[in-house]
Amino acid sequence: MKGKDEGLRTGMTEKTLDPVSEAEWAELRGLGHKMLDGIFDHLQGLRTQPVWQAPEAALRTLAAEGVPRQGQGAAAAYESFLRDVLPSSVGNTHPRFWGWVMGSGTPVGMLAEMLASGMNPNVGGFNDAPMVVEELVIRWMAELMGLPEGTSGLLTSGGSMANLVGLAVGRHARAGFDVRAEGMQGGPELRVYCSTETHSWLKKSMELMGMGRASLRSVGVDGSYRMKIAELREAIAADRAAGHRPVCVVGTTGTVNTGATDDLTAIADVCAAEGLWFHVDGAFGALAYWSERLRPALKGMERADSLAFDLHKWGYVPYEIGCVLVRDAEAHKAAFATGASYLTAMERGPVAGGIRFADRGVDLSRGFRALKAWMSLRAYGVDALVALVEQNVEQARYLAERVEASPVLELAAEVPLNLVCFRYRGASDQENKEILMRLQESGVAVPSGTVVGGRFAIRVANTNHRSRREDFDLLVEAVERIGREVVG
Ligand SMILES: Cc1ncc(COP(=O)(O)O)c(C=O)c1O
Repeated sequence: MKGKDEGLRTGMTEKTLDPVSEAEWAELRGLGHKMLDGIFDHLQGLRTQPVWQAPEAALRTLAAEGVPRQGQGAAAAYESFLRDVLPSSVGNTHPRFWGWVMGSGTPVGMLAEMLASGMNPNVGGFNDAPMVVEELVIRWMAELMGLPEGTSGLLTSGGSMANLVGLAVGRHARAGFDVRAEGMQGGPELRVYCSTETHSWLKKSMELMGMGRASLRSVGVDGSYRMKIAELREAIAADRAAGHRPVCVVGTTGTVNTGATDDLTAIADVCAAEGLWFHVDGAFGALAYWSERLRPALKGMERADSLAFDLHKWGYVPYEIGCVLVRDAEAHKAAFATGASYLTAMERGPVAGGIRFADRGVDLSRGFRALKAWMSLRAYGVDALVALVEQNVEQARYLAERVEASPVLELAAEVPLNLVCFRYRGASDQENKEILMRLQESGVAVPSGTVVGGRFAIRVANTNHRSRREDFDLLVEAVERIGREVVG
């Protein structure tokens, strides 16, 4: 496999990218085994590595690389990956990574990704086994989330896309005119409701869907960062009085800032009384519903018309995989199906039953992301995942206790779930930010930052199945030490 023309194989008369001879297959197989060993070594040694390293090697060697007209072979590309790419990731597989809300992935999920990529089906939703696997995962998700049999769904790239799909279905179902045909000019101005703590996916979606942010009403929150229901009712009434048409309320379970969960029962009641679509963003929080212990705080989630969540966050499945569930399967399809002649269902063959998933979202061609979810659930079992979710919540409480016991740290918000926001007491916002950056650069731990109650806070979002209590001890000690250096 050496030589000038490393990319193409000249087997018989035509060219191909596959190995051709027995020797070439054996060589690639050997390299594949080496790659597996390499990535397992990496996963096994994570704890000894810094959480985050700047991409210095990548910037030095890769950033200016020219287009490779001649192939150098897979072995050379792998060497470069090991040297220039692998050492520098944002760090989310590391036991002391708790930034933003990121998933830590699993070795089984990684292996499933390899199998999915090797099989390489286009899971638009043809009449094949990958379609069956995705339908099965959707059915499992609906059951675990308390939604009824017959619930429709779609696996997506992530929470933002899952939420967008749910919102689009809700708008189509409740607009009162044919939004797909006529656009926004087909009827009165539509209104969507959320809280000031709702994640930014919603603003982006409102922009993309042509409603604009002006059609979004952000309702205020109480001291626990939960939507004020009386204010929601008032906003709906005011919009109706002004001739606008309310269509959808977005509740959140597990807000991105503090992990708060709205009063979902109350929002469901408002939606039922007003004839509005009830969408729940449960990007990470919805996974707590799988735990009998944590479920009571999420009561009402099972009344959602649509529910979006990620499996790549608190489901520990490797990126990318989100999921949207839609109670009314017909409404789901009605919002996306196109009926294009070249995609039409036939009585038999690979397109019997249509191209199901293309009719439930934006993408036509789709990867086999269902496989890693199916394999993870089969390999580990839901009970193991629930135990880990509960462990993450207990660890967050432990961290909160450590912060409260510290003479120099203070909590910045309540800790209802798996998120802890705290600050170095008496330090300015800029000083707390400086503490966070020094901590991240030290490689000891990577929380992220946010603004809570108008002030900067260090924010730990724990969806990490590799973290141990001692990791949180290390975090507290590091923040106390760096804080003393910064504040003096
Ligand atoms: C509450 C909430 N909603 C939506 C999202 C967006 O999800 P994704 O990053 O998978 O697009 C996030 C991401 O952290 C989130 O925390």
